[in-house]
Amino acid sequence: MTIPQPIAWTPDFSVRILDQTLLPETETYRTLETVDAVAEAIRTLRVRGAPLIGIAAAMGVTLALRRGEATLETVCAGSAALGATRPTAVNLRWALARMERRAAAATAAGEDLQRALRDEATAIWDEDRAMCARIGEAGAALIEGDAVVLTHCNAGALATGGMGTALAPVYTLHAAGRRVSVVADETRPLLQGSRLTAWELARAGVPVTVIADGMAASRLRRGDITCVIVGADRIAANGDVANKIGTYGLALAARAHGVPFYVAAPSSTVDIGTPDGAAIPIEERAAEEVSALGGRRTAPAGVPVWNPAFDVTPAGLVTAIITDRGVFAPADVGGTL
Ligand code: MRU
Repeated sequence: MTIPQPIAWTPDFSVRILDQTLLPETETYRTLETVDAVAEAIRTLRVRGAPLIGIAAAMGVTLALRRGEATLETVCAGSAALGATRPTAVNLRWALARMERRAAAATAAGEDLQRALRDEATAIWDEDRAMCARIGEAGAALIEGDAVVLTHCNAGALATGGMGTALAPVYTLHAAGRRVSVVADETRPLLQGSRLTAWELARAGVPVTVIADGMAASRLRRGDITCVIVGADRIAANGDVANKIGTYGLALAARAHGVPFYVAAPSSTVDIGTPDGAAIPIEERAAEEVSALGGRRTAPAGVPVWNPAFDVTPAGLVTAIITDRGVFAPADVGGTL
């Protein structure tokens, strides 16, 4: 099974990324050498997905020390620039806060700051890979017999440091020789489902069918979907889940058709400091993402566009949250993780 690796260190500790804006047509890798280059890559979704942008930011912050003095202030300035790129995924802030704590401890102890931060970023990446594997096992244990999993956006290897979150149970079942296939929502407006989820699953040899987002309810009514599994950008203390726009509608449709709706996420996505979904900042992106496609207009010039990148699914619509620490009822996640 071939799973893509969307991020890596280069031998001289620059950050190498797979440019996801160019998939599925070309598999192009870019080397990023400055904080600004990493910030641009996160903002433009060359690297994307909640856990991966946390890892990218952690690696990116080490680049601040290449241009600036090796001080805590330089680290904090780099961290602030990276933290301002995208507001919704809590993993970004979680990873940067961890890097700042490590920088403060290394400074106080007189350690080599550059080395300490590279090791910390590598640890964040390694831990995410391990969390994905545990999510895969916990999720696979929920699924009996042959399975058809419906998913939205991309919460696979391209979104994490490992085998993904929502796709981790799929890969785990596939590797165990179980019959599992995926129905991937296209995920308008940026098509992460058709461009990215379908690309990585096809590459791994997992059968995948792409549908337009508006087809999901009809597909659920057909009765052949075993469960829906999606990822998360932030899970509030009460179990409300922010994820890619369209997730809420999918949860409503799954509930209407009695299909289990699972959210798969590492514990770093649970934010006990956010009481509920209403307190989660939702990123709004450029109108052109909706009003144009492939260089052509899809809406008349001048017509207003609303383009929130994420929505909030109320905890009551979520069957269970699959994490690296086990499977939880949404109401329990804040008190336990
Ligand atoms: O805008 P994106 O592509 O970064 O959005 C990604 C998602 O919404 C994912 O479902 C989420 O980050 C979980 S990734 C494991």
